[in-house]
Amino acid sequence: MSDSESGDAQPLAQAEARIAACEDLDALKAVEREYLGKQGMVAQLLASIPEQPPAERPGVGKRANELKRGVQAAVDSHRDALAGARVDAERRGEGFDASLPPPRPQRGSLHPITQVTRELEDLFQSMGYQVLDGPEVETDYYNFEALNIHADHPARDSHDTFFCEGDGHLVMRTHTSPVQARALEKFEPPLRVVAPGKCFRQESVDASHDHTFHQMEGLVIDRDISVAHLVGAMKTLLRGIFDQDLEVRLRPGYFPFVEPGFELDARCPFCQTGCRVCKRTRWIELLPCGLVHPHVLRHGGLDPNEWGGFAFGLGLSRLVMLRHNIDDIRHLLGGDVRFLEQF
Ligand code: PHE
Repeated sequence: MSDSESGDAQPLAQAEARIAACEDLDALKAVEREYLGKQGMVAQLLASIPEQPPAERPGVGKRANELKRGVQAAVDSHRDALAGARVDAERRGEGFDASLPPPRPQRGSLHPITQVTRELEDLFQSMGYQVLDGPEVETDYYNFEALNIHADHPARDSHDTFFCEGDGHLVMRTHTSPVQARALEKFEPPLRVVAPGKCFRQESVDASHDHTFHQMEGLVIDRDISVAHLVGAMKTLLRGIFDQDLEVRLRPGYFPFVEPGFELDARCPFCQTGCRVCKRTRWIELLPCGLVHPHVLRHGGLDPNEWGGFAFGLGLSRLVMLRHNIDDIRHLLGGDVRFLEQF
């Protein structure tokens, strides 16, 4: 080492001594900042280069860089040493509080749609319904034809269908009603069925419309079924959902696979005098429903003179929004954990 170099090494030796004397991470950080920070010694040295006589400049730059590397190495190794010392101390039982609660592991939770789906499945199973599943990619036949919506029926327009590639014979199901048609084919009456699941429509997406949403289909087939049975079942459903007995009313509604068809409204469970949810009408639109159309029964191989039934299509997405006061349907399938963590 030449004389001049040993002289230059002095600031580094000083820094190393100060670093070695640091007893904790905070002190170490302060020393590190003093040397390597934005206003630190290294930065000042570098900034001074233009003011040095030209012959000195390369030397100053070199010393600055050596100081920087040396300080960084000393800081890193002392940081490791401090961490090791802490672990050793903890092993000896110092600075370690065994009574502190451990960090909480991240836990998942059931999606609010899964929660209502399971609750309603339990409710209907307790009334003797079976829970069915159906394909989300459905044939034109089950999604429309078997439900009395033939090829040029105007009701097809309102279904905003996603067609799968090919001859248009496969579609993303636009409702859970195709499970009605499948259940009629597969099982002998009498029959009680619910079928929850995803549905798809090519909608312009906004706060109340999404291209993917959830419904729960219901179908009951038996002899001598009347609208009174339908209303009775829906009142039980309401009790299960809102935990109270709510008055209902039927308005006429048109769906090609039920006759008569209805929109069933329930008294608003959230207010006595009108609120935002019921738009001050005291009624909330709950679900479309009706008595199974004779054509649908025939498609399922049943004689409409012998068998009858009712069907309903509960919008699960809307129900979850009502229950949790969610103002935008896009939250449901948006996948944002901050949203999901609330349930
Ligand atoms: N499937 C219908 C829809 O989504 C709703 C419905 C179901 C109507 C069952 C009547 C009976 O538009």
